[in-house]
Amino acid sequence: MTLRATISTPEGKRRYVRRLFATIADRYDFITAFLSYGQDRRWKRRLIELAGFEPHDAVLDLACGTGDLLLSATRACRLAVGLDVTHRMVELARQREREEGVPRVRLVTGDMAALPLQAARFTVVTTGYGLRNVPDLPAALEEIHRVLAPGGRVLSLDFNRPANAVVRAVYLAYLTIVGSVLGLVLHGDADTYRYIPESIRLYPGAAGVARLMEQAGFSGVRVVPLLGGLMAIHTASRAR
Ligand SMILES: C[S@@+](CC[C@H](N)C(=O)[O-])C[C@H]1O[C@@H](n2cnc3c(N)ncnc32)[C@H](O)[C@@H]1O
Repeated sequence: MTLRATISTPEGKRRYVRRLFATIADRYDFITAFLSYGQDRRWKRRLIELAGFEPHDAVLDLACGTGDLLLSATRACRLAVGLDVTHRMVELARQREREEGVPRVRLVTGDMAALPLQAARFTVVTTGYGLRNVPDLPAALEEIHRVLAPGGRVLSLDFNRPANAVVRAVYLAYLTIVGSVLGLVLHGDADTYRYIPESIRLYPGAAGVARLMEQAGFSGVRVVPLLGGLMAIHTASRAR
């Protein structure tokens, strides 16, 4: 079965994504810096700026990976919880937390579409490249809405799916070539990073995600374009 066919069903995508991130976890930070030409740091700093963390905030970072956004939140806020479905990512985030001597981090292995967390517990939910990986995006947005306190805000950084067909074709072809070479060199499997363009193909894009956020009950949904619109940050709030 092709990669595209495998991830085009919710169950197929769920299984593929879990296996993929368990395989790449130990190389994730290097790959992210390499594929983004070092821009990932800048995009995350922008998200943190937009989040405007306050000392009283209780932050939940979903799909926390090795903990970039989580550790920034924990330095600024009274509570920060990171959640990721890949246990190895959670271990790496914990290791970093110890190395950097950051206090107050809580880490949970779990699925962002079925959060093992109390309703209305957080004032901010963040996620970096999380929403695109979830097989059931409306379910994940409902869960984010549920765990946010009234007035709480959500911020998500991810790739966009360019609306212009020519731009999209060139962009996806570029990611496919670079991803295939990198997958072959690092893992002996060209599909490993071809997952990125394939997941973008199936993704509703920044405008589609904004609509889904509104349908999930969020207000003030805003899309902040990055890299000429190839990437985007969504911000929105839960009504008071
Ligand atoms: C591309 S990484 C992003 C990591 C980190 N947020 C960052 O920005 O560097 C995507 C992360 O999503 C996690 N993930 C995928 N599906 C998930 C799900 N359903 N629930 C929670 N985490 C998930 C993966 O394990 C992986 O760590």
